[in-house]
Order: sequence, then C-alpha cells, then structure tokens
Amino acid sequence: MAPNTTTNTGIPVASDDQSLTAGPQGPILLHDHYLIEKMAQFNRERVPERVVHAKGGGAFGELEITHDISRYTKAKVLQQGSKTEALARFSTVAGEQGSPDTWRDPRGFALKFYTEDGNWDLVGNNTPIFFVKDPIKFQDFIRSQKRLPGSALRDHNMQWDFWTLSPESAHQVTWLMGDRGIPKTWRNMDGFGSHTYQTVNEAGERFWVKFHFKTDQGIDFLTQDEADTLAGSSPDHHRQDLYETIDSGDFPSWSFKIQVMPVDEAEGYKVNPFDLTKVWSQKDYPLIDVGTLTLNRNPQNFFNDIEQSSFEPSNLVPGIGYSPDKMLLGRVFSYADAHRYRIGTNYSQLPVNYAKNATINSYSKEGSMSYRSNSPETPVYAPNSYGGPHASEQAAGDEGMWAFDGQAVRAGYIEHPEDDDFTQAGTLVREVLDDDARDRLVDNIVGHVLDGVKEPVLSRVFEYWTNVDPDLGKKVEAGVRDGQQS
Ligand code: HEM
Repeated sequence: MAPNTTTNTGIPVASDDQSLTAGPQGPILLHDHYLIEKMAQFNRERVPERVVHAKGGGAFGELEITHDISRYTKAKVLQQGSKTEALARFSTVAGEQGSPDTWRDPRGFALKFYTEDGNWDLVGNNTPIFFVKDPIKFQDFIRSQKRLPGSALRDHNMQWDFWTLSPESAHQVTWLMGDRGIPKTWRNMDGFGSHTYQTVNEAGERFWVKFHFKTDQGIDFLTQDEADTLAGSSPDHHRQDLYETIDSGDFPSWSFKIQVMPVDEAEGYKVNPFDLTKVWSQKDYPLIDVGTLTLNRNPQNFFNDIEQSSFEPSNLVPGIGYSPDKMLLGRVFSYADAHRYRIGTNYSQLPVNYAKNATINSYSKEGSMSYRSNSPETPVYAPNSYGGPHASEQAAGDEGMWAFDGQAVRAGYIEHPEDDDFTQAGTLVREVLDDDARDRLVDNIVGHVLDGVKEPVLSRVFEYWTNVDPDLGKKVEAGVRDGQQS
C-alpha cells in the first residue's frame, strides 16, 4: 500500500485534494498550513538559472587512470590505477533553460571529480580555445550573444559586431561555424580543459599541461538543417540522448589525454602558451594517454543532481595548479561568486557538491542552510592553542606558481612569433577541414550572416574571413551577395 502523504516535517496530511474552508462555500482558512506549505514551496521551486550555460544535462561516472604520469604530477587522482567518482554536465552557452539543445553554440563540458584531496573541477568546453583572452571582455562577449534589451530577441548583428571588433575570436568562431558547432549528441564530442594548467610532481618539478577528453563514440555532427528541425521537434534532443543511452546500459566514454610542455620551453614557443585563443600543435606536444572517463549513472533527481551542481575552476587539488592564463585566473573568482548568489552561501554542502571523499576542516561556519559543522571543541578561529586545524606547509610549497614582476600594468600577452589572431584559424580551415566541411562552413556563415547582419558590421565580416583565409573570405562574400539578391 502507498504510504501516507506528509508535510515537509513528516506529519500525515488530511487531504491531497481539498483545502480547509469555513463551510463548503466559505473562505480558505489560514491554518491549513499544508496548503500554505504547498503554495509557498511552489513559489520557491526554481533557483535562478545559470547566467550562462543554463540549458544542460549530465550524469555520474568514473575516471580511471590507466597510465603512469607520475613524472608530471603527484595529484592522487591522476596516479595509475586510481578510480574516482565523477560528475559531468554538458550544456549550451547562450540559450536559456528551455532553449533547444541543437542551437549552434560551443558546448560546456564540466567535470567534477570527488577525490580524497577534495573536489577537482575541470570546467571546460567542447573546443580547445575561446573567443576572448582577457576576462574583462567576457561579460561584453556574453551580452552580445544573448538578447537585445528592448525586444529581448537574439541578434546576429550584435554577435558579429562583437566578433569582428575582437579579432582574437576568429579561431573559436571558425570552430563554431564549422561542424563542431552542433554536435550530433553530447556523446559525439570531445572535451577540453582548454586552459593551460600547471602540474607539479613529487620532486617539485613543474610542467604546463592541457587536458583533453577524446570521445570514444567518434566525432559526429548535425547539419544546420537537421539541427533546425530538431530544435522544433525535439528541443531536449541531447539531454534525452544521454539519459536514454545510459539508461539502456550503453555507457559513453572518453579517452583522457594530456599535452605537456616543460616549463622552460614556454618562453620560446611559437605562440604564447597561456593565450586561450591558441592551441599547442600536437606535433610539438603530442597527446599522452592517461585514462578513461565513463558515464554510467543517471541523476536520480535532475534538480538536486544537475541543476544545483556547482563547478568551479578554483577547485584544483594538490599536484594541479594555475597558469598565467588571465581567463583562468578571472574564472577562479567568478564561479564561486556565482554559486553563492545562484544557490546560496552553503552550496558546497549540498550532496552533489560535497567533497564526500575528503575530510573537510574548514573554519567557515553558519550562513543560510548550513548543516556541516566542526565538533564543538574545535576552535572557531586560527591561529589557536587548542588543536584546531592549521594550514598545510605542503600546500604552501605547491603554490609556488610562476615568476612575475611587481609592476601593475594593463597589457596584452607577451608576444610570441605566431601570436596573430588569424594563423591558427586559417590552418584549421585549410589543413583540418576537408572540402565538404569547408563548403558547410561557408554555408553556415552565410546563413548566419544573412539573418540580420548589416553595415558597417557586414563589411567587417568579409574582412574577418578574408583574414582567416582569402578564398573563404571570397566565398562568404559571394554567398552573402547572392543571398541578398534572392
Ligand atoms: C558557467 C563565468 C569562461 C566554461 C559559467 C558561469 C559563470 C561563468 C558565472 C555560471 C556558473 C553557475 O551559475 O553555475 C565565466 C567567466 C569566464 C568564463 C567570467 C571568463 C573570464 C569560460 C571558459 C570556459 C567556460 C573559457 C571553457 C573553457 C563554462 C562551463 C559552464 C560555465 C562549462 C557551465 C558549468 C556547469 O555545467 O554548471 N561561466 N566563464 N567558461 N562556464 Fe564559464
């Protein structure tokens, strides 16, 4: 027999379908506290959606390390043989909660690993690069991709205005307008940590490292037409695919690899290795096998497990650290701040975010919805004479980071010989794409631009693509002119 309905505090309720009234036609009585609880709870069911990456889905799984990379890092989670529970959340960037999964956009590829040294979050995308390289431009970039203030409509003119005035975006926009801009499913895309991170081994030697997750399902994409159809008929296409595939016992996996650059090679490398708009050539820094990420468990409750999940680039464990990538350093502040606002001060105490495999000895206390606490004997301040937790000398040593001078400046990245905005985008067009993919790239750009881009932005669009590749520039201009006449 089904159990009794109860209130949130476990008291059996008198009715599921009739409110308490003063006589059948009388007013509703205020002391029907169960009715009040239902209405009040309902009014508070939503938390604000993520300001970016609002639409997504995810699953739990495991990271298994199958190769020995201890010469690069001492991180326990990355030692051969280790298996660590993981959470992945995939998302589009600009769309809101109910927006279609198949809109052209980069995809978020956010990972959380519940390690014994605390949670390690790798909050990446399905592209190895990004649109901008300084965090001071991120908010403007996102606003240009979202909606106009008056009509609340999305606007391609605004998007191309920002991109063409920010030529460092060319590499990422080339990815976006190509086949990778609409993956067939989340299972059919790669994931990238994107930034350069620092790792340190037991001997204290440091390396610059990039993280890659290569899909074992194979890369696959949707054409613009296929995506447009699905946007209407199956707006949750990617969410549904991931859920149903895992539910059927077919567990998607990704081969986990790294690129490693010895610290002393950074200065002489052809591109600034900390510039997020550039990749490191795999000829120069080949992919090194590390392990496998497998997703094998669906969320039990989407809101609790996925909507309230909070990923933060500041969650790095001993053996993995930051680099001079300014975007990464900006993100280190941004995410925890977003979570305190979106979910609440104690977001890290929720089961999905809790560092369940580590011991938490934080001096943080109280605040809204707090339930984690130290024993009553533990002092609430440091330093103290009563055996409270004390900072780790080891962690202080690991924080060595990198050398920098003390002059406060607002400057671009230190320039390396191939640091221009268009070379890598051009190489992608000429050497990575085949003829069919290049044709689709032209069609996608032309279709996007014809949807509302006007002068003076339009001329800059032609110049932008000509800078990426002269032939591509010509084809884009010809396609747009044709489209304008028909
Ligand atoms: C989500 C800020 C760049 C990947 C977010 C959120 C904020 C944010 C505030 C919402 C967090 C939440 O409410 O849960 C920024 C800032 C950036 C930046 C300030 C640059 C300075 C990037 C880059 C990547 C990225 C370069 C990828 C390489 C993501 C992902 C999510 C996200 C995957 C969704 C995480 C999830 O699934 O919950 N970002 N972001 N962001 N960002 Fe960024």
